[in-house]
Amino acid sequence: MQTIVQKYLANINWSITPEQLYEPIGYTLESGGKRIRPQLVLMGCALFDSDFKKALDAAIAVEIFHNFTLLHDDVMDHAEMRRNRPTVHTKWDENTAILSGDAMLIKAYRFLEKIEPEKLLKVLPIFSEMALQVCEGQQYDMNFENSEEIGEDEYFKMIRLKTAVLLAASLQIGAIIGNASTEDAHWLYEFGIAIGIAFQLRDDYLDVYGDPKIFGKKIGGDILCKKKSFLLVNALKTAKLWQKAELKEIINSDALPDDEKIAKVTAIYNTMEIPQLCEKFINNYMDKALTYLDKVNARFPKQPLIDLAIQLSGRKE
Ligand code: IPE
Ligand code: IPE
Ligand code: MG
Ligand code: MG
Ligand code: MG
Repeated sequence: MQTIVQKYLANINWSITPEQLYEPIGYTLESGGKRIRPQLVLMGCALFDSDFKKALDAAIAVEIFHNFTLLHDDVMDHAEMRRNRPTVHTKWDENTAILSGDAMLIKAYRFLEKIEPEKLLKVLPIFSEMALQVCEGQQYDMNFENSEEIGEDEYFKMIRLKTAVLLAASLQIGAIIGNASTEDAHWLYEFGIAIGIAFQLRDDYLDVYGDPKIFGKKIGGDILCKKKSFLLVNALKTAKLWQKAELKEIINSDALPDDEKIAKVTAIYNTMEIPQLCEKFINNYMDKALTYLDKVNARFPKQPLIDLAIQLSGRKE
């Protein structure tokens, strides 16, 4: 499925004018990425219909949408590297990332237009509602940078919106195109939410503990922009008073060099055993995910989807 998606994406011609608008789009879409979301669309469909290629246009739409969110997210997060390359706003400039990103969002809808009308009627509101929720999640993510402390439930609400709904809607859209019942599409959506939450927990973990060459992003970016990641939320929650004061002082310091700031915060996470706690939560959400998947009455085997979910929960890239 990944090969099919790659081939389709590689065949889209972005060498068109004005090149200042389209070149960054080609640059982004050829830079790899795991292509998880389009695979989820195809797998959602393949549970109910052996001809899963029916869902290819929707799969491409979802991947282009995802890549659009990355262009804007990297501006918002001041991120310089992604997929081992400079981000669009670093290679070009912020205006480029904004407008090429906008064009990608619209291009995503142009791929949705190819879905057969009867299915499109169901898919369109799901896609648009999901897209709005991603914006809501991103806004909470931004708001939280300036908040002293964030509760665990607020954190989970935020990552559900910014990340999990896209994985969930991908599965649901695939299932709808495969003619699944409303109930089966619903449980598949819930499965997607749970693996999506595990996915963002792993992303927060890798932002501190990943190998930059494999992860493809700069390590410690979340610490530098005071992101209320799972790690920071839980460190602040469980810290003793003196530890909390120390942690806040480091996070908010303008004097400390970046490297030192990242090292000090990481050392606190380590003594507090926050990475272990993160692993525990990832496992819990994976277990939860599987109970939802159990409720889906699929026509074809679920095992490939289970394998993909497990692989994602332990990912290093
Ligand atoms: C990055 O998503 C954004 C998050 C939701 C963490 P991916 O880790 O799927 O990014 P690519 O597409 O594989 O590069
Ligand atoms: C991902 O959040 C959410 C979206 C891109 C919508 P992050 O900001 O953690 O994603 P990365 O780490 O930059 O890929
Ligand atoms: Mg972000
Ligand atoms: Mg980011
Ligand atoms: Mg991240």
